[in-house]
Amino acid sequence: MATETLNIKVTKTKESKISQFDPNNISFGTVFTDHMLVADCINGEWQTPEIVPYGEIAYNPALASLHYGQSIFEGMKAFKNEADEVLMFRPLENFKRFNISAERMCMAQVPEEIFINGLEELLKIDAAWVPKGEENSLYLRPFMFASDVYLGVRPSQNYRFMIIMSPAGQYYATPPKVKVETEFIRSAEGGVGYAKCAGNYAASLYPAKLAAEQGYTQLLWTDAKEHKYFEESGTMNVMFVKEGKIVTPKVSTTILKGITRDTLLQLAQSMGIEIEERQVSVAEIIEGITAGTVSEVFGVGTAVVVSPFAAIGFEGTDYKLAEINENSVSNKLKKALNDIRTGKIADTFGWVW
Ligand code: COI
Repeated sequence: MATETLNIKVTKTKESKISQFDPNNISFGTVFTDHMLVADCINGEWQTPEIVPYGEIAYNPALASLHYGQSIFEGMKAFKNEADEVLMFRPLENFKRFNISAERMCMAQVPEEIFINGLEELLKIDAAWVPKGEENSLYLRPFMFASDVYLGVRPSQNYRFMIIMSPAGQYYATPPKVKVETEFIRSAEGGVGYAKCAGNYAASLYPAKLAAEQGYTQLLWTDAKEHKYFEESGTMNVMFVKEGKIVTPKVSTTILKGITRDTLLQLAQSMGIEIEERQVSVAEIIEGITAGTVSEVFGVGTAVVVSPFAAIGFEGTDYKLAEINENSVSNKLKKALNDIRTGKIADTFGWVW
């Protein structure tokens, strides 16, 4: 039976799937909670959002997003504290970035009450799906696609916004070996690198596949002009520890403004670790690993949180990095972030929702 909550129409599932879910054996992005949120924007007017049982949606073959790629998403996480309360982490930052991506892809802006209230209502209904445990969370995936049925190339007049949720554990089972990419690019100035649009991820797959054939888990993207400076790694921002300081590429139009990246930089500063946001050259890092001044290289993002790399491959040589231990900078940052997100330590930053 349908009921009205906060102007969201709710239709609950007749049969929960939760008994089929094993929190001790989570494979990223494969299992989805019982409900999802759907909101349509028809000719600029947002319709009442609906929470409905998770399930398939029908597509017209002429759906504009399938042909021309007007499609964006966010990645965020919810956690449970000791008292079994569900906590979101900096959701307003994801909301703002979502609309920045929407603007770049010439799509409708999503109202805050649909994005944030939608997340809150969905989390209330599917709270039992938020797993506990050190590496566990509920991954939240708001996304929007052009829903015009039209083959002409122009901005769609209709959009569908949805939120789906999926329990998540550790993203990489072992530390990835990453290859410095010097042929293909992720983004160029004036392009869409700062937007979380579907095409950015599609375009990364072929170079990543070639690297996988050479034994690498992921890529370290370099700048489009000279392939001289680091940009991101795979679907993450990247950080280096050089002489005890965190060095990371400064965000720009070619680099995604990562919320985990920003959070870790603020945490590092609060822990007295110096940070440098600037251009980071491949030569500087390769020389630093060889000389022992660069001790850690790690990816940071919502899905991975903090992912230390085992080695960096550059021009046919693998530069190995030491194993992470309790005193490693990446480990301290990850622990601090996890402790705040799960309510183990007080959040003095105002990040937990
Ligand atoms: C995220 O961390 O949310 C990402 O963007 C990675 C995702 C594409 C799996």
